[in-house]
Amino acid sequence: MSEQKLQSQTVQTTGHAWDGDLQEYNNPLPVWWVYTFYVTVAFAIIYWIIYPSWPFGKGWIGGLSSITYVNSDGETKTHSWNTRALLMEKLNKADAEQKPYFDKVASMSYEQIAKDPDMNGFILSAGKALFSDNCAPCHQQGGQGKIGFFPNLTDDDWLYGGTYAKINETITNGRHGYMPTFSEVLSPEQIDDLANYVASLSGIGHDAAKAAAGNTLFHSDTAACYYCHGADAKGRQVIGSANLTDKVWLWADVPGADTAEGKVAAIRTVISNGLNKGVMPTWGGRLSAEQIKVLTVYVHELGGGQ
Ligand code: HEC
Ligand code: HEC
Repeated sequence: MSEQKLQSQTVQTTGHAWDGDLQEYNNPLPVWWVYTFYVTVAFAIIYWIIYPSWPFGKGWIGGLSSITYVNSDGETKTHSWNTRALLMEKLNKADAEQKPYFDKVASMSYEQIAKDPDMNGFILSAGKALFSDNCAPCHQQGGQGKIGFFPNLTDDDWLYGGTYAKINETITNGRHGYMPTFSEVLSPEQIDDLANYVASLSGIGHDAAKAAAGNTLFHSDTAACYYCHGADAKGRQVIGSANLTDKVWLWADVPGADTAEGKVAAIRTVISNGLNKGVMPTWGGRLSAEQIKVLTVYVHELGGGQ
């Protein structure tokens, strides 16, 4: 009791007592703490004035700071500070930095672009970004494609042609390869003969007698393969019919089969079922002419452009 009295004489208490003798000291707050507190209050008030902070009706109070940007429709908008407007502003800035390059792309020929080291650097970075955003989901990040689904763009084998003009046409207008179903027109034996003939064209193990019969069928009007793939079976780029002699396969999973029989069977499946799933989307309305030109040079450089 005497000790408590001593303390209450040296240190001020709040004057309240709980449970009879429980008291609370009334020490002043440390100065540094008080000033830090004032600073945070001042910061909050300034923040409220400048940035959006308080809900108001169905919206909020926007604050004094604003961001002006050009939206995707080309309209100039001013909006109170928000992260979406901030992103638009950053994109506008990036576009402005790229614009001189895109202007140059528009005015230069493909050959000039490919030869210009400065432009080449731009094609590599801008082309890669455009390719990642729009093309990689199908053609894969490196453009290597996926057998049975999307063609490889890094080889020098082209369904529709590998010149700048043809690649540009492919990207702008899209492509849709079509080969009819033969299971209803030809007998299983005929299809097997044809598969053996096609296998023979790229050096896959085959039955020579069947391949000879297939050769005749291929060039006959019964099967009419030659009509689309050409008498030399090298394909016609106007319709994107595959070159059947080049050891490059997109639809028939020949590389995936271990045995010669498996490879022939993969070819048989394609001939039986036909093809209608190769759809390359149209980019004409979605990307600008300059973006497509950048992608054309990029894709041309990925593989053996022609
Ligand atoms: C109407 C035209 C047409 C006819 C007729 C046709 N094809 Fe095709 N064929 C195509 C096209 C186009 C493709 C490529 C499709 C694509 O890329 O979307 C193709 C692809 C193929 C493939 C796949 C090649 C690969 O890379 O995987 C084989 C094999 C094939 N044809 C064999 C034949 C045989 C054998 C016949 C005759 C029975 C035949 N085709 C008749 C148009 C035709
Ligand atoms: C939805 C999947 C898909 C997307 C996305 C896509 N492609 Fe394709 N692309 C295909 C398919 C499938 C084919 C083959 C069409 C055929 O054979 O009929 C193809 C074919 C091509 C070809 C022709 C290859 C040849 O051998 O002639 C080029 C070039 C090409 N794409 C480039 C691009 C570029 C550049 C982009 C991005 C702007 C892109 N593709 C986006 C699916 C896609």
